Amino acid sequence: MIDVVAPVKTDRLSLRPFAERDVADVFAFESLPEVARYLYNEPRTSEECAALVAERAERTSLRAEGDSVVLAVDLHGTVIDHVSLAWLSEQHRQGAFGFVLHPGHQGRGYATEAAAEMLRIGFDRLGLHRIIGRCDTRNTGSAGVMERLGMRLEARFVESEIFKGEWGGELHYAMLAAEWRASAR
Ligand SMILES: CC(C)(COP(=O)(O)OP(=O)(O)OC[C@H]1O[C@@H](n2cnc3c(N)ncnc32)[C@H](O)[C@@H]1OP(=O)(O)O)[C@@H](O)C(=O)NCCC(=O)NCCS
Repeated sequence: MIDVVAPVKTDRLSLRPFAERDVADVFAFESLPEVARYLYNEPRTSEECAALVAERAERTSLRAEGDSVVLAVDLHGTVIDHVSLAWLSEQHRQGAFGFVLHPGHQGRGYATEAAAEMLRIGFDRLGLHRIIGRCDTRNTGSAGVMERLGMRLEARFVESEIFKGEWGGELHYAMLAAEWRASAR
């Protein structure tokens, strides 16, 4: 069982549980059409962000299969990103991670730096065997994060779903615990 209550520090960032005061920061990027472009949700309203922050604030533990952790990525007191880790299977030791970064902070490696901590929690603390990440085939930013982390492209699904009214495809990336250890992050 994993509890992430104390902030997780990286070179430049602090990953911590969400709090009510983060609503305006979250709205600043989750309301933007370019952020929602390849996500299943539409740009979020302020009310939706408030509800989301309240829900995410509770997501700090991995106690059983099906649980997920969602952390606010804090840069000098402002939330610029969120990262998540879902425990998909206890028997098969599988997980999935995700990340969403404010466009004003893109291009500096922050998403990669924060997402690496989700892999670290999954592999080193939870003992997962394999962690996956999925993205739209057109989402080069997301694919770039997963490639920089050293994940393998395992599959490219073509027109596998109707996404926002049109046929969309998916890239499936994965990393094994042994590959994580070999990458020596
Ligand atoms: C996906 C997303 C997080 C990628 O953002 P990003 O800024 O490209 O990713 P990073 O923060 O890791 O930055 C990487 C870029 O910074 C550069 N960079 C600069 N300094 C760096 C450093 N110290 N370390 C690593 N990369 C660095 C990299 O070269 C890379 O640039 P490039 O793509 O031109 O090669 C962002 O586009 C996003 O949030 N999109 C909307 C939500 C979304 O689609 N989420 C994913 C759902 S699957």
